[in-house]
Amino acid sequence: MSRAFEITRTLPEDTTGADLRADVLGGLTAEPKVLPPKWFYDARGSELFDEITTLEAYYPTRAEREILLARAGEIAEATGARTLIELGSGSSDKTRHLLDALPDLHTYLPVDVSESALTQAAQALAEERPGLAVHALIADFTRELDLPGDPPGPRLVAFLGGTLGNLLPAERAGFLRAVRGMLAPGDALLLGTDLVKDPAVLVAAYDDEQGVTAAFDKNVLAVINRELGADFDLDAFDHVAVWDAEREWIEMRLRSREATTVKIPALDLAVDFAAGEEVRTEVSAKFRRDGIAAELAAAGFELARWWTDEGGRFALSLSTVPDAAGNGNAQTV
Ligand code: AVJ
Repeated sequence: MSRAFEITRTLPEDTTGADLRADVLGGLTAEPKVLPPKWFYDARGSELFDEITTLEAYYPTRAEREILLARAGEIAEATGARTLIELGSGSSDKTRHLLDALPDLHTYLPVDVSESALTQAAQALAEERPGLAVHALIADFTRELDLPGDPPGPRLVAFLGGTLGNLLPAERAGFLRAVRGMLAPGDALLLGTDLVKDPAVLVAAYDDEQGVTAAFDKNVLAVINRELGADFDLDAFDHVAVWDAEREWIEMRLRSREATTVKIPALDLAVDFAAGEEVRTEVSAKFRRDGIAAELAAAGFELARWWTDEGGRFALSLSTVPDAAGNGNAQTV
């Protein structure tokens, strides 16, 4: 028997619908057009993302798992975590390495917008780990971060997979501040960040030959069709992945092949696309150690450990919340 399995939804069920409507209305009437990446992840989109993580070209998941496997013990020792809060947990796949290594863990709190992925993963984990309190939280952590209950410290927040890169710089600053706000001295943040590298490698990771990423990208149109009654023709759009060398991020876009008008009845909206016009569907920023250390410091964290995979493609960092005297709890290296 598991100690507990609970689900909390911070927002009423229809708020998701209201958020989607606001994002689509704002994004598709903007110049240039944009859609936030979080709407990829319905049940189908979460499946497609899981498939992406198995592709040869998509290295981040494998690289991060390599680091987690090698460092889980050090992470456990440095943090002594009793509560693990995982933001954007998805299928919680890699988290198992961490859970296995944390002997004192009392509560696992996975947070995700994808109800399907979250419930499945959290329930399986609760069954596998009797004695662990699993409290799944269906929430949009980019908007609010209210922890249910008062889970015991030390708390470790894990934000893996490189998802921080989906936020724009100003959003990242606000988000890291909000994470800092749920923590106290002695708590820590484990952050996975993809690193700047050869653009050809990056573009290939976001435009695989099998077309899985293309299907994932177009899935946002299927979500809008289903949820808002729109008539996007998925075959009339091409998936595009571009490296922005100045801002050091990958952009995924959907490009309309022809001039067309898409109707979105739930918004009472008709959206014109010129031939070749693009919608930006995702930014995936890539990082350097100095840059991320500065962003962490600005949010009140202190970068304590920095690990990469053998190939130096991806980094996992552990940051601490300094006490009033400015001392982090884990040794700074
Ligand atoms: C899950 C946000 C980390 O940005 O690499 C994968 C999503 N997009 N392929 C990423 C994604 C295209 C992924 N994150």
